[in-house]
Amino acid sequence: MARGRVKRAARAAAGYARRGRAMEHVKTIEDVQRLLAEEGYVCGRALATALFLALRLGRPLFLEGEPGTGKTEIAKAIAAALGRRLIRLQCYEGLDSASAVAEWNFAAQMIALRAAEVGKTAEGGALKDQLFSDEFLIERPLLQAMRPQPGGAPVLLIDEMDRTDAPFEAFLLEALSDYQVTIPELGTIKAETPPIVILTSNRTREVHDALKRRCLYAWVDYPDFEREAQILAARARELPAQLSREVVAFVQALRTEDLFKKPGVAETIDWAKCLLALDAVALSPQVIADTLGALLKYQDDIARLNNSEATRILDQARAAIAPA
Ligand SMILES: Nc1ncnc2c1ncn2[C@@H]1O[C@H](COP(=O)(O)OP(=O)(O)OP(=O)(O)O)[C@@H](O)[C@H]1O
Ligand SMILES: [Mg+2]
Repeated sequence: MARGRVKRAARAAAGYARRGRAMEHVKTIEDVQRLLAEEGYVCGRALATALFLALRLGRPLFLEGEPGTGKTEIAKAIAAALGRRLIRLQCYEGLDSASAVAEWNFAAQMIALRAAEVGKTAEGGALKDQLFSDEFLIERPLLQAMRPQPGGAPVLLIDEMDRTDAPFEAFLLEALSDYQVTIPELGTIKAETPPIVILTSNRTREVHDALKRRCLYAWVDYPDFEREAQILAARARELPAQLSREVVAFVQALRTEDLFKKPGVAETIDWAKCLLALDAVALSPQVIADTLGALLKYQDDIARLNNSEATRILDQARAAIAPA
């Protein structure tokens, strides 16, 4: 079992090393767009420029925006495109530095301690050093990101920053300023090559200015018609072209309505997949009513879109894509 894991890790490492691209391969904003497109990620010029500059200047990129607009996905796409390991730190309320950096494996330490007592092997001082060595350390995302990785510096995704609290933000500020973390028993560990850092937030609260100042910033908005159509072409290839245009036009029209939660790109893709599963060839009020749960996730919004409303928005959408 352990051998299988080692083999898998070695294979993954070989993959990264083979595909790992140096930053010299990213010379222009168009290079960023092309690399992301190869991974099925459609990136507008403004976002590509922000990412390009973050890569070239070695600065963290802070992405804020509406839910489901591709903030998390861009980190996955750039990691895959550059052949780097993606290390994800998912933020949540109460996340502390131990869970983010490293924890001691107490159970293993206790076993080693008991074994030492029985065998009376190691001396007190030596035993302490042994117990607080890498062998008993469980590395969490921030520490992993400071370690050298096959293929080059990893992509560190710090996802949904707005879910953490101010003390963790302050801690992160320190880690991202010097690309180093401190473990009291081991000392400070500094990254030889800084990771590529992408932070995301849904802006449920404002992230402190001090942290934002360390980063380049980009707002990720809903895509316009053309870009959303390109995203559907990349992520729901089988959808017929005309239906795809109707879907995008309908979602774009829906976003102009007064809804509690507007559909993101993720919902557009989900909806397209539902329509494919139902073999729908065109939108109709009935098809929309049957599949609305893929687009809208609040009962109030679904209730608001009763039959006549859906028909009105569908007409509006069709008018928007009708040839002039
Ligand atoms: N520009 C894009 N190109 C290709 N796919 C995209 C794009 N934007 C979004 N998607 C698709 O939408 C899905 C949702 O994107 P993602 O999870 O990155 O959104 P998010 O902004 O992180 O949302 P949340 O704020 O809810 O976490 C992805 O799985 C991806 O398939
Ligand atoms: Mg996300």
